[in-house]
Amino acid sequence: MATSALADPLHRTSTPPIEPGYLEVFRDFPLREEVLAATHRAFSEGIELLAGRECRERVEADGLALLHKHFPHASLGDLEFYVVEQVKPLWTRWAARVGRETVGWDGDFFVQDLLLLRVNYPYEAEPIAATSKAPLALRLRHKLLPPIEKLRYARYPRKLWRRLPELFAYMKAKRAALPEQYRCHPSHTDSWFGQPVGSLSLWLGIAGVQRDNAMCLYPETAEMRLPQDGLMYFGSGFQLPPATRPDHGDGDLLVFSTDMLHCTQLNVSDRTRIAFSIRISPGEPVFDEDNFWYVAQSHRARALLAGDASRPGRHGARTERIEWREEGWPLVAPTVQLEEPFSGERTPVARSEQLAEGAKLVVRFPDREVLLFRTGAGLRAYPGRCPHHAYRLADGPHDAAHLTCPGHGLEFDLETGRSKLDCFRLRGLAVSEEAGQIFLG
Ligand code: FES
Ligand SMILES: [Fe+2]
Repeated sequence: MATSALADPLHRTSTPPIEPGYLEVFRDFPLREEVLAATHRAFSEGIELLAGRECRERVEADGLALLHKHFPHASLGDLEFYVVEQVKPLWTRWAARVGRETVGWDGDFFVQDLLLLRVNYPYEAEPIAATSKAPLALRLRHKLLPPIEKLRYARYPRKLWRRLPELFAYMKAKRAALPEQYRCHPSHTDSWFGQPVGSLSLWLGIAGVQRDNAMCLYPETAEMRLPQDGLMYFGSGFQLPPATRPDHGDGDLLVFSTDMLHCTQLNVSDRTRIAFSIRISPGEPVFDEDNFWYVAQSHRARALLAGDASRPGRHGARTERIEWREEGWPLVAPTVQLEEPFSGERTPVARSEQLAEGAKLVVRFPDREVLLFRTGAGLRAYPGRCPHHAYRLADGPHDAAHLTCPGHGLEFDLETGRSKLDCFRLRGLAVSEEAGQIFLG
């Protein structure tokens, strides 16, 4: 692997550092069948425990990709904790085997003591009636206690306390949004999100995974300084490079750099999407000191590979100021700035030569932004904010046919403004061209 720009500050000596933008899909890797079988078994047991035998039988008959038709979303948090608790020792050992045999790290390395399970129901699925929460005795017996889990794993830099107002605003917005299982993660890098920098994320599809409901990644952003929204997600004002949506499905392993921007796409499919992820670090884990929180516990791969799955050590409690790359990509989309608010009347906004075939132009009024595209079918004008969570569409990449939202990777057809979800569509604005001038309205 080529040397990473971050190699020196992180003192990664035992194993070759990770190539910036590293991303690969593996279909053949150690313990594949064992890990998948154990995970399906844990789901079946958890479903029976939380929703009864009949529900388990229905899910087993239809498959986990139709979980949303049988299992209430209100109990999914408990189910996730149950499954993780059952399979974590096996998954941790699996991650060490993948690091050694699939990635090819032959020295010692580290496996983070954090296994994340994401169950994502289809965005437009009808929620089924909620059952009441599992009784406390059951929750205690099976460790279905999310807040305690979080305290156990996480470290919070002191600066977190200065950012409490942002955190409360974020939690409030989260509560007001759809139930968790219908949402997905906006763009972030895993190293903003409590994971070690200069490391690899192992992301394994379990059920319902397909190209347009899974990962959307931006390899060219690896190790770049990117705007953040004050919490752990992508901010605005940075023109993203082309998006990569790997062709992967159930049982496929996606391996990518923790320093690469990515999101999980809105689940536009009719299948429940289930995936696990865990991180491996080539050297002693180090965290960006700007992180909101991080998980400092990890296992030494050598011990895991020798069959020692004892308690993880407190490696990588160290945080550092990371010198992210400043250069490498045009940071701002071509823009024209206008002085007056948009009246809705026919208004000249740009000269024709400012918008080449296949290109995008941002027209910024004092009160809004509008995006202009010159497509094969002619000029198109769309509002500058995504109808989902209002991410700034000017920051999203586009090709000849589609614009990608930088928030959750939703694709909009450039000719019609439609996405794969009927509820989210860009309403085109009137646009025309005459005598070398482009007009809006
Ligand atoms: S897809 Fe979520 S904000 Fe656009
Ligand atoms: Fe992530």
